[in-house]
Amino acid sequence: MTAQELREKFLKFFESKGHAIIPSASLVPRETDASVLFTTAGMHPLVPYLLGEKHPGGTRVANVQKCVRTIDIDDVGDNRHNTFFEMMGNWSFGDYFKKEAIEWSFEFLTGKEWLGLDPKRIYVTVFKGEDNIPRDEEAIRIWKETFAKAGMEVGVAGEDEIIKGDIRIIPLGSDDNFWIAGATGPCGGDTEMFYNTRPEEGEINEKFSNLVDNFRLIEIWNDVFMEFEKKEDGSVEKLARRNVDTGMGVERTLAVLNGKENVFETELFQTLFAKVSEISGKNYEDNEKSFRIIADHIKASTFMIADGVIPSNVQRGYVLRRIIRRAIRHGKHLGVENNFAKEISAVVIGMYEVFYHELEEKKDKIFAELEKEENKFRETLEKGLKEFEKNATKDISGKEAFDLYQTYGFPFEITKELADERGMRVDEKGFQEELQKHQELSRTASAGAFKGGLQSQDEQTARLHTATHLLQAALREVLGPHVYQKGSNITPERLRFDFSHHEKLTPEQIQKAEDIVNEKIRENIPVVCEEMTVEEAKGRGALGVFESKYGEQVKVYSAGEFSKEICGGPHAGSTGKLGHFKIKKEEASSSGVRRIKAVLE
Ligand code: ALA
Repeated sequence: MTAQELREKFLKFFESKGHAIIPSASLVPRETDASVLFTTAGMHPLVPYLLGEKHPGGTRVANVQKCVRTIDIDDVGDNRHNTFFEMMGNWSFGDYFKKEAIEWSFEFLTGKEWLGLDPKRIYVTVFKGEDNIPRDEEAIRIWKETFAKAGMEVGVAGEDEIIKGDIRIIPLGSDDNFWIAGATGPCGGDTEMFYNTRPEEGEINEKFSNLVDNFRLIEIWNDVFMEFEKKEDGSVEKLARRNVDTGMGVERTLAVLNGKENVFETELFQTLFAKVSEISGKNYEDNEKSFRIIADHIKASTFMIADGVIPSNVQRGYVLRRIIRRAIRHGKHLGVENNFAKEISAVVIGMYEVFYHELEEKKDKIFAELEKEENKFRETLEKGLKEFEKNATKDISGKEAFDLYQTYGFPFEITKELADERGMRVDEKGFQEELQKHQELSRTASAGAFKGGLQSQDEQTARLHTATHLLQAALREVLGPHVYQKGSNITPERLRFDFSHHEKLTPEQIQKAEDIVNEKIRENIPVVCEEMTVEEAKGRGALGVFESKYGEQVKVYSAGEFSKEICGGPHAGSTGKLGHFKIKKEEASSSGVRRIKAVLE
């Protein structure tokens, strides 16, 4: 099945169930929505209707929405992550609820004239109940009845979450089965559908999360039952109307339907890889990471520019700049010395214009912006790489990373990636310090440029940096004093924190750590910086790397008695500046080291 056939089938199916088909909204959220930089899910542009506004299409709509998620940007290249993807969805605004949503999902997945998937390979999760919201017995009952109609008696997994025999329904907690788009807004429990990609491995007798971790089960659809609204003060109220919001990823579903192992094997990437290969003379098999990054990033850039984003040094424009430059750098890695982004973009447009007509209309603009950015970066790329190589015998200092940024236009992430490839480290704190020094100077020149609530990138970095300290202290409280920082990385969108701990965190532990951080944010504790010798810092119980020479002065940042760390800064002035802290992901990083990604909303 092709991507276009899949989109058409989905829309036709829901049209036959009385849904109005609406076009994809822009990747740039409406002006009143400051909660995200880009549209990250199909429901985002529809929030006003989920909250009660009348939709011109009526109470049932369906669409295919273009989305961009940048939280995982540095993971693009592994098997799962893309920055650009499409999400198919059907909506009920106070119309149908759980019964129809579940029955239709099953019908579309398994119906012979629809996707024709094998019901015996389908597993579903439901909300097991938490925070005074009960277990979703209704969804469990409906799933049982729905499977029964297909001749299958199915059972429900216990607390151990082991799948075996007839068990197909797995109740999970709010981390997995409660959906909310940001910190506040419409939300509710959900049910997610998974497909067994490797039936040849025989009978399943394993914990659900292991099957997901090793990709035997792949999530393809999420039906959210939105019946609550989370308010600023953290309270949850019942909405006047009950809604349904569903999300089915085009790329993943296409992979599953065509028996492919991952999204990169589908036509949505293969066509682009063919072009990369033609331009570079290299093959995909030996250069997977660079091929994937180029294809994903130029695709995302093409869509972003079509929606009016242009490369710059702030906010959305900076995300765009970073992904274009990263793609170009990987082109160079493949030996491509001439401009090529435009050529790849032309293939993107050719593939997607059948559904996203704006691409063809904005073609000239897209090519012009890509060309401009590529020219700009290429002017300094060669020299910057030479400069980098000069230093490539040792770790990169903050000043060197800043010079690469300032003089050669290397976004920090590129320097970091280059360093990673050579097993070197970059002093990120030092880089942030240089950046802040520089921006303080230019800020006085353009005083007020950041008025009106817009946050500059360095303020955002400082906030995430402070959040990292709070997180480390919270994890030590929840898990124990064996927790130490093993690595940290901050991009404008998120923090990433690696720490010593030997097993997966439970949803309760994650929730607890998150709650503690948010409590400390609410307490609005001043963040104080003191200079002292490394011995003194140690004596006061500060955490940090004690590699410094005897007697050397170090900075110690404290948030009251809660957190004390040796650190270069910069930090937010007080914890109250952080907003709402949310852990997005917890996973293994390496043996004995866990990794958390979190955002401030
Ligand atoms: N809003 C839900 C999601 O993005 C459907 O998964």
